[in-house]
Amino acid sequence: MKNRMARIFKPDTGRTVMLAVDHGYFLGPTRKLEEPRKTIEPLLPYCDALFVTRGVLRSSVDADTATPVVLRVSGGTSVIGKDLANEGVTTSIEEAVRLNVAGMGLSIFVGSDYEHESLLNLAGLVNEGEDYGIPVLAVTAVGKELEKRDARYLSLCCRIAAELGARMVKTYYCEDFASVVKGCPVPVVIAGGPKLNTELDALELTYDAIQQGARGVDMGRNIWQSDFPVAMIRAIRAIVHENKTVKEAYELFNSIKGD
Ligand code: 5RP
Repeated sequence: MKNRMARIFKPDTGRTVMLAVDHGYFLGPTRKLEEPRKTIEPLLPYCDALFVTRGVLRSSVDADTATPVVLRVSGGTSVIGKDLANEGVTTSIEEAVRLNVAGMGLSIFVGSDYEHESLLNLAGLVNEGEDYGIPVLAVTAVGKELEKRDARYLSLCCRIAAELGARMVKTYYCEDFASVVKGCPVPVVIAGGPKLNTELDALELTYDAIQQGARGVDMGRNIWQSDFPVAMIRAIRAIVHENKTVKEAYELFNSIKGD
């Protein structure tokens, strides 16, 4: 377990830049992730872990890739279906072991009609993961209800996830994010959410989250929907692993973008 956690959270900083490319599991061919291999390959040298489903892993990531994988193992819904919260576990523990993953990730939907099911999905996955030393990442999902993302709600979700045994939690940045981190006894990473207006906005979000105790990012759209995804992930890395300021990271972004 410790070894797998250290593959995700780099021991020298205790932080991670995880690249989220799992969106297709309910969104289909999302913009700029239409051909996953083309999106993923240029970014691989700059991410500490890849958050991905088994289908994209199998089809679009070479088996000799050394980047650790956190396998998205929940799903069963689509963006046009009745309720995004009605997820089940889609991938067996044997498959996760066979794929040699560093972790497994699953969404919980606290406060939804499927709260109970998604929390028991998490608990069951933790039971299996603990047997094999595979840490579980809980994703505090909100479906289409993005307005739910405040500190009170996210603190509740993160704490419940940790209490049920998640070894790490992915949530959203929000005002008073420090209180979310304080109430969660396991590492918290942030998702970026839908693409923000500018790259500077995403760098500010990352910086603020790190300042308030986030242990890194599990970010997707704000990296690969940028016109300069490599420059963007490198600027994010500079904030996460080198404690760069927003200004320094943005200068780095502009210098790489101009290459
Ligand atoms: C979808 C996910 C995504 O991995 C997560 O939202 C991170 O991606 P983004 O930064 O694009 O929000 O868990 O349910």
